[in-house]
Amino acid sequence: MRRAIGLADGRVLFNVPTIFNVSNNHSLGWRGRIKTLDAQNEKVLMDPNLMAMSWDELLPRLERSPAYRAKFREVYGERPRREAVLDAIASFEISLRTPDAPFDRFVRGEKGALSPEQAKGYALFRDYGCVSCHQGSNIGGNMVQRLGVFSDDDLTAVEGAEAGVDARENREDTAANTPVAERDLDTGGDFRVPSLRNVAVTAPYFHDGRAETLPQAVSLMGRLQLGRDLSDPDVAAITAFLESLTGRFNNRSLELEPSSVKEPSSTDPVVQPTVPYEVRGARP
Ligand code: HEC
Repeated sequence: MRRAIGLADGRVLFNVPTIFNVSNNHSLGWRGRIKTLDAQNEKVLMDPNLMAMSWDELLPRLERSPAYRAKFREVYGERPRREAVLDAIASFEISLRTPDAPFDRFVRGEKGALSPEQAKGYALFRDYGCVSCHQGSNIGGNMVQRLGVFSDDDLTAVEGAEAGVDARENREDTAANTPVAERDLDTGGDFRVPSLRNVAVTAPYFHDGRAETLPQAVSLMGRLQLGRDLSDPDVAAITAFLESLTGRFNNRSLELEPSSVKEPSSTDPVVQPTVPYEVRGARP
């Protein structure tokens, strides 16, 4: 799905990013303007086009549920209130880590963890300078950069874009149709450099979902950010390298599976966090 379906008018301008490893990002939102999980989560909860909640509605609702009431008392020692709700959501998100990608094993010294093609792709990723933006433990997520450093010719022509909505329009969009989380943006074409962890299983790509496949995204990055037309073999090798960034959660490698979009059923296994997390603050 290129863009999420909004509540208010059925349209959201932005592709929804994964929240795996989100707590390792230095800033949040496609524009990188949001600095804490709490701020991001509150905006998403309250945005009329996203979850359309209000604290006045949400807190009594949680209070009415015996299960939530008991859990809040157990963990926070009190009835549900704003800080505790935000803390609970953020604590869950902090547990969504996906360690042990083949690339992590390679960095730890396991030379055979990358195939020869992936090792070649890693070398190209460094040599072409992708690492100047996609860097750090999340291979991205720690800076904001202009999209279209070398060219923004590609930015208007999105195949299959909804009429009149493209990256240029997004740059100018300040309010209508924009999740509150993105509303404080100015007219610049700057976006948060996304983490590339698990990128092979999180299509489509870019803030507006303009690239459907990873090779398309890689080749577009070459043109827009580095001013280079990457050859097909180079795109294939870099794509293979990016596939080595797929990590593990609950002792399983993340993978694209059709079942991940099916309706949830009561027989689905309950997801348990693999990483213990601290409950920050709020505990008496
Ligand atoms: C000048 C900084 C910069 C450089 C250099 C750069 N990127 Fe990016 N990259 C970005 C930004 C900013 C975005 C987000 C743009 C958007 O969402 O519209 C991005 C997005 C991506 C995405 C999509 C991720 C997603 O989840 O949607 C991929 C894949 C990617 N880059 C790969 C690469 C590769 C491969 C290279 C080298 C060939 C590269 N990038 C070089 C800044 C950069």
